[in-house]
Amino acid sequence: MSDPVLPCGAELFSTTPIPLARLVSRKVADGTGRNETALPPALLQDPRLACEHSGTGECPRFARHLFGTAEQGKRIQMSDDYELRKAARQELARAWRPGEPLPEISYTPEEDALWETVTAKLRSLHEEVACASYRRAARNVVLPPDRVPQLAEISAVLTARTGFHLRPAEGTVPIERFLRAFGESGFCATQYLRSPDSPYHSPEPDVLHELVGHAVMLGDPVFADLYRAFGRAARRDITPRRLQEITQVFWFTMETGVLLEQGGPRVYGAALLSSVAEMESLAQVDLRPFDVAAILAQDFDDMHCMPVLFAVESVPRLAAELDRFLTGS
Ligand SMILES: [Fe+2]
Repeated sequence: MSDPVLPCGAELFSTTPIPLARLVSRKVADGTGRNETALPPALLQDPRLACEHSGTGECPRFARHLFGTAEQGKRIQMSDDYELRKAARQELARAWRPGEPLPEISYTPEEDALWETVTAKLRSLHEEVACASYRRAARNVVLPPDRVPQLAEISAVLTARTGFHLRPAEGTVPIERFLRAFGESGFCATQYLRSPDSPYHSPEPDVLHELVGHAVMLGDPVFADLYRAFGRAARRDITPRRLQEITQVFWFTMETGVLLEQGGPRVYGAALLSSVAEMESLAQVDLRPFDVAAILAQDFDDMHCMPVLFAVESVPRLAAELDRFLTGS
């Protein structure tokens, strides 16, 4: 028996109706650069969305249908625009196919303000603790200070500089897919921004982490090649254990790696570069010499600041160590 069509009772919610038009927009694939605002067809056809407004594209209680029953929606109250925006943007990423224009997101003024606040703080920390390669790359992959950039504009810069391109990701993608994309010079990036409730921390990779952390490093030719090397290694016919090892080394290098420069630790890992807390606590970290065997034996919890990091004395040494590990030579 199919689910009954739900009445869209305004009494269920105390919040202002959220017009669908505010949630998502995408560039029309006709070469004109024109935007249209629409929900992806897959979302419109989702049976959970069935209500008296089906087909109108203007359901004022859209939130309820994304979150289950009316009662659940009532409990959640759906005053949280954040969850709505995130869900719609995840759906755009799911609906995207290679060759299509990257989804264009209508970020709200509040999101632009959050981006401005957090990236200003990160930039001042980068002057102190980011490695030279990052600071140099950031002069070429210029992120706007006052608005969330679109993946498309940053992807175009990367393609011109190092051949990399960005692909939309609905969230944390399976590690094999994430790593393998590097072998095609692709990087899977989310497009939603962290919750305003925790501006300096995101429990999952958001667009700020992807662009401030990864994309800038991908603008450096040497680091772009290192990402590709991870991709090539993951694209081989490998065992689950080998994939786990590659993931572990990726975590302690491209996500949380540290170089020794100017007499101190300087970060090149994306998770550190996009985290105020990680960079501010760098002086308290147990910094250990770079050693692949030690990295493979090291536990980590990516939900907390890293107590142990591995520091390498130069980019050439890092490249040589990674080449040895990733190619098995
Ligand atoms: Fe990351």
